Amino acid sequence: MEGIENYSKALQDYLTKVVTVKEPTQLYKPIKYIVSLGGKRLRPILTLMSCDFFGDDFKKALPAALALELFHNFSLIHDDIMDQAPLRRGKETVHHKWDLNTGILSGDAMLILAYQLFEEYEPKKFSELAKLFSKTALKVCEGQQYDIDFETKNDVTIPDYIKMIEYKTAVLLGAAMNMGAIVADASEECKANSYEFGRNLGIAFQLQDDYLDCFGNPETFGKQIGGDIISNKKTFLYLKTLQNCTPSEAEKLMKLFSETPNDPSEKIETVKKLYRKSGAAEDSIQEILKYTNKANSILEKLNIPVENKAVLKSFGEKLMKRNV
Ligand code: IPE
Ligand code: IPE
Ligand code: MG
Ligand code: MG
Ligand code: MG
Repeated sequence: MEGIENYSKALQDYLTKVVTVKEPTQLYKPIKYIVSLGGKRLRPILTLMSCDFFGDDFKKALPAALALELFHNFSLIHDDIMDQAPLRRGKETVHHKWDLNTGILSGDAMLILAYQLFEEYEPKKFSELAKLFSKTALKVCEGQQYDIDFETKNDVTIPDYIKMIEYKTAVLLGAAMNMGAIVADASEECKANSYEFGRNLGIAFQLQDDYLDCFGNPETFGKQIGGDIISNKKTFLYLKTLQNCTPSEAEKLMKLFSETPNDPSEKIETVKKLYRKSGAAEDSIQEILKYTNKANSILEKLNIPVENKAVLKSFGEKLMKRNV
């Protein structure tokens, strides 16, 4: 097994080779900018690790891994436009640094670049990878649409929310694991189980992202704290608070989530207090643990060495304790 630092280094070298600035620079500079800000590189690392653990040279999975990272970064540029977010990875978002049109078009180009990378594979693998990619990318769009729809919907349920985060976030982690297994020619059963591992980890990951959006440390998180409250996002924290709190508190929370004040600081503080007092913050941590445990239980079914299962398990546990 290769260490995670080796995956990161190989990915960085490959990325530097593939992502360059050419004419028209207004199109390519923002692409270089967003990918150079780094991030956790979670999805490509899962792909490289999965390929490695299923017994093949992880370097063969580099094009697929980078394709997922480019797709992810494309989705972040467009997500930041949709969420009106000023900060990403501790720096200005692309549409703030440049403008809206630049964010839209550079994002589009990144999606195409991602597709192009699958051309590195021979026809049979190309077809399998590209099919999985298209299916996954479309689900991400569906998830993003639900996310936006829910901002103004007042009857969102917790199962609705879980489906939304499964689509916008978790399926991409599932695909990341699955792609590593495809490149390594793993069995159909292993491909399916690796997808399920990633999907469950992804649900835990988005629940955690929503938790950190509210209670994270602004120094490390790199995004605007309280952004989800400002946008009236129907997160687990919000939905669970409505379930747990008194009728008058519920009324207050729903009223706050029908407003968008110019200065949101008071709204953010009041909502955070309700999230804590109702026990929803604690319930959210339990829910993260539940999906992390689900992911871990799927590891049993993977046909890989036990020490590699332990690596995947600790990877998931580290994600759960992250502050970025
Ligand atoms: C942010 O993803 C978007 C979500 C799905 C929550 P990451 O938290 O993986 O972002 P980076 O790539 O590490 O910045
Ligand atoms: C984003 O969810 C999911 C995708 C980008 C598809 P969020 O809107 O919560 O992600 P952040 O918090 O802006 O990174
Ligand atoms: Mg966002
Ligand atoms: Mg969003
Ligand atoms: Mg978020």
